[in-house]
Amino acid sequence: KRPFILDVDTGTDDAMAIIAAVKAAELDLRAITVTHGNQPLPNTLENTLRVVQFLGVDVPVFAGCPDPMVRTLTAGREMNVRRQPYEQVIDGQVVNMHEDYLPLPPAKIAPQPEHAVAFLLRTLRVASTPITVVAVGPLTNIAMALRLDPGIARNIRELIVMGGGIRAVNSTSDSEFNFFADPEAAQIVLKAGARVTILPLDATTSALFDRRDAQCLRDIGTPEAEFFGRLIADFIDRMALLGISNTSDPGDHSAAIHDALCVLYMLDPRIVTDLRREACDVDFSGGFADGQLIVDTRSYMPRDDETYVAYGIDKERVMRLLCDLLGR
Ligand code: BDR
Ligand code: CA
Repeated sequence: KRPFILDVDTGTDDAMAIIAAVKAAELDLRAITVTHGNQPLPNTLENTLRVVQFLGVDVPVFAGCPDPMVRTLTAGREMNVRRQPYEQVIDGQVVNMHEDYLPLPPAKIAPQPEHAVAFLLRTLRVASTPITVVAVGPLTNIAMALRLDPGIARNIRELIVMGGGIRAVNSTSDSEFNFFADPEAAQIVLKAGARVTILPLDATTSALFDRRDAQCLRDIGTPEAEFFGRLIADFIDRMALLGISNTSDPGDHSAAIHDALCVLYMLDPRIVTDLRREACDVDFSGGFADGQLIVDTRSYMPRDDETYVAYGIDKERVMRLLCDLLGR
């Protein structure tokens, strides 16, 4: 069984990733670490605990960093760019892209007392089998651990990251949310020397799920499938209210399941249709391109880094995998 740690900022699609991670009995989910991101840390932690409680499993949850490494110290950066309106007041109601709290009972289970970064450090220092890290939020926790001890990269089998966008962007005109939320952390992680597989927006938005797909999943009949399908439907509703679209059509009503794809990729790498080894950087200049994933596509340049970028997803394969997984 492949051991892995899941780092999340739950969040709608993070919840889908947790469900997939727990349902995949052929994988060995060792722990969930939580970071700031879609919501402030107290919310992402509570949401994570709600999902774990809903699934009824005994997976340890560790709370991590409440803030990015340095971004918030340089307030000017926020003023340089036009942000996507993740939150708007519509008819007197605040509408968030990701709900403050997921529609599940409040968590009665508690997080571990240890800090997520301390846990990552302790676990990855002594791991006898290399561990995969699936990171689907801002990369603060992982980068902090790598800064404290860069040697832990040796014990990371693979880092599977949802982040960045080449042509597809969502946070600013040039960046995707997870990388924009902590650009320094993203650059540290990409340069740590571990094998990194990136599923950027270009890949995750190449497989979009509409209301029919959501209903199809709900019809499977298990509580997990029902909740997964509901999350997709709710995501579509909120994006429609906020006027946000994943395609060039502003009226498109479909959602991407970004984070869940990283877990599904571990189960079946063939869901990625186009994976290229490319040198990658993240801009952290604080200018218009802050948080931008920069991919060196020049064919004659050496490809020394172990960074792999996904460009496409086989949606039919993902649907089949989800039906199997959620039906269990
Ligand atoms: C990423 O940002 C978050 O809103 C999602 O959970 C996903 O990890 C997509 O840009
Ligand atoms: Ca996320």
